Amino acid sequence: MKSDKVYILGIESSCDDTSCAILQNEVLLSNITANQKIHEQYGGVIPELASRDHQKNIVPTVHAALEKAGVNLSQISAIAFTRGPGLMGSLLVGTSFAKSLSMGLGIPLIEVNHMQAHILAHFIQLGVGSSELVDKKLNTQSTNYELRTPNFPFLCLTVSGGHTQIVKVKDHLTFELLGETQDDAVGEAFDKAAKILGLPYPGGPLIDKYAQTGNPNKFSFSKSKVPNLDYSFSGIKTSFLYFIQNAIKENQKFIEENLNDICASYQNHLVKTLLHNLVEASKIHNINQISIAGGVSANSELRKQLKETGEKLKWDVFIPPFEFCTDNAAMIAITGYYKFLKKDFCDLSAVPQARYTL
Ligand code: KG4
Ligand code: ZN
Repeated sequence: MKSDKVYILGIESSCDDTSCAILQNEVLLSNITANQKIHEQYGGVIPELASRDHQKNIVPTVHAALEKAGVNLSQISAIAFTRGPGLMGSLLVGTSFAKSLSMGLGIPLIEVNHMQAHILAHFIQLGVGSSELVDKKLNTQSTNYELRTPNFPFLCLTVSGGHTQIVKVKDHLTFELLGETQDDAVGEAFDKAAKILGLPYPGGPLIDKYAQTGNPNKFSFSKSKVPNLDYSFSGIKTSFLYFIQNAIKENQKFIEENLNDICASYQNHLVKTLLHNLVEASKIHNINQISIAGGVSANSELRKQLKETGEKLKWDVFIPPFEFCTDNAAMIAITGYYKFLKKDFCDLSAVPQARYTL
């Protein structure tokens, strides 16, 4: 180690965002993300186009992150990268880049599981320079750049475009999967419904936006029946499709006349479904430290209902700042930091894993 300060350079490229972050111990110095707009016109991420854009974006993104952090490559202690789960072509770009950089600099390489990283986003601390990265008005937990972090063990509802899981987190690197979706992820349920409504990809944030002024109790949708703490969203999605098709038969302008109410009702249904199992998990495991993570944790109704449920059930609730909900390299770097402390390094034979269990 070059000093007692550890500098981790994190790289995320699992889907359609190319991101690079620099961390000094747990403090974030920079977090730069290049989004790919090209997928909007196709209604979903096209893997081949995603990997091509990662190739274009990765070098400028890494340069920008180093510059913003005011850190030289010679100061970096280790390179952390997303090994999976994700799209193979996208993961390959980040993995190959991380391997080359660690070899060129002669420093350790750390592989990171993307889903673990979403959870550990709760431990990122903000440096004075990184304060502008966070929307302070919405991040009610932030005071003096010290974000509140959950105590172990805590539960995390991890909700993204590819996953829906309830995880018991025992320490920074020990996770137990308590329940997960048996088919579609909740992010897919948002995005596919948005597509049916004619909205561009990714539709989750747009459903959230239109729902703001809609009636959440106007329409109802089928409930999924799965045992234990697992979820299922494919039936809900299909019931949404039939509901819209039938309504359009009666009234061609049904969507445009009811968009806000449709979005609010569907969103409310998804959020209630998510929270039902989280409440069960909290009772069964007698844990009241409850957190959310992943792209869908940016959803305003989920954040609102989680806080309300938490107040009722006397939970201590942890909601990450928006910037750390969707895919970002800061979460990869913080996971890399905890692995660095344990000297949990990998060698150049590490290959990406499209499927990578928690
Ligand atoms: O974690 P993430 O950025 O990427 C994956 O690892 O999948 O999650 C992306 C997902 C997409 O399905 C997107 O529609 C959803 O998160 N999402 C939202 C919101 N913001 C992002 N869904 C509902 N409401 C939002 N505000
Ligand atoms: Zn993700």
